[in-house]
Amino acid sequence: MKTMKAVQIARRGGPLELVERLVPEPGPGQVRIKVESCGICHGELVAIEGHHPLMQYPRIPGHEVIGVIDKLGPLAGEWSVGDRVGVGWSGGGHEVTGLTYDGGYAEYMIGFAARMTRIPAGLPSAEASPLMCAGVTTFGALKHSVAGPGDTVAILGIGGLGHMALQYARNSGFRTVAVSRGGDKKGLALELGAHVYIDAQSEDPVQILKGMGGARVILATAPDSASITRIFDGLGEGGEMIIVAGMGGNLEFAPGQFLAGRRAVRGFTGTDPADLAGTLNFSQLANIHPLIETFPLDQAAGAFDRMMSSNVRFRAVLTM
Ligand SMILES: NC(=O)c1ccc[n+]([C@@H]2O[C@H](COP(=O)([O-])OP(=O)(O)OC[C@H]3O[C@@H](n4cnc5c(N)ncnc54)[C@H](OP(=O)(O)O)[C@@H]3O)[C@@H](O)[C@H]2O)c1
Ligand SMILES: [Zn+2]
Repeated sequence: MKTMKAVQIARRGGPLELVERLVPEPGPGQVRIKVESCGICHGELVAIEGHHPLMQYPRIPGHEVIGVIDKLGPLAGEWSVGDRVGVGWSGGGHEVTGLTYDGGYAEYMIGFAARMTRIPAGLPSAEASPLMCAGVTTFGALKHSVAGPGDTVAILGIGGLGHMALQYARNSGFRTVAVSRGGDKKGLALELGAHVYIDAQSEDPVQILKGMGGARVILATAPDSASITRIFDGLGEGGEMIIVAGMGGNLEFAPGQFLAGRRAVRGFTGTDPADLAGTLNFSQLANIHPLIETFPLDQAAGAFDRMMSSNVRFRAVLTM
């Protein structure tokens, strides 16, 4: 039988290892995708650390997948062989890509016909990959936020999600603030659209945001509870902290912090197909592109480590 190269998580907490696996066969309602690219998201930690009740190993991670359909299962709907499609975090039903079924760190993967997105011609696959998770999560979070044009919006953490958020915020007419650690990312953050750059290691984000009248929205992409807790008081009247970061310890807030200015904290996930369509449209209309570093599949482990140490500018993408 035909085999393929894949990178799998061998066991809970386990390393990412390059293996030969059988090329999967699509079942009812499924297609087989010849993968062209897959982004490396911090959310892969959910699979590696096993924070899902249906997690089983070995598991191929990867949920920013772009590829071309090379085989149809029965009842594969309107899809045809040769269609270029994208797959994000949500598979069919309760399936989660790269968690409950194998994802895109592989030459082939199975796609659920009901949860794939057609990728516009002219958008290179490696650039489309980050839109499937980093893009839709930050676009959706800002679109459904209380912020309107002219409002101040701060993005905490300038990585895969954060660098997309800066572009969406700027192009939505928000006064856009990047909050990072150190000065390394300042130049690129300003180029991506930040009006203001805050180095949270040498400056006080709360004082600066208060000086600007308070943020209407703070979008927390940094997977660090202490940073999220610390910046909360930078919110202005009626402001909201939107948490998309899925990791870190417990947050610490005093009840009074919510009463002062009637401020709120809530979460957001980029799982709504309508938001994904919006992300693709808005990115095209506003000429928004991810900044990516590409790696061959066999360098997935090294690329993942580079992401974990916040050194990628700004999304690592595997190309097959
Ligand atoms: N809600 C959803 O649907 C959804 C979707 C995708 C991802 N996520 C989650 O969103 C988070 C970000 O994902 P990502 O792919 O953007 O990760 P990423 O590329 O690693 O970026 C995260 C950024 O957060 C900052 N950061 C990292 N560690 C930190 C620490 N210890 N203290 C303070 N800041 C830190 C860094 O920015 P600076 O260097 O600028 O400080 C880093 O570049 C992850 O928790 C991921 O699981 C959620
Ligand atoms: Zn993700």
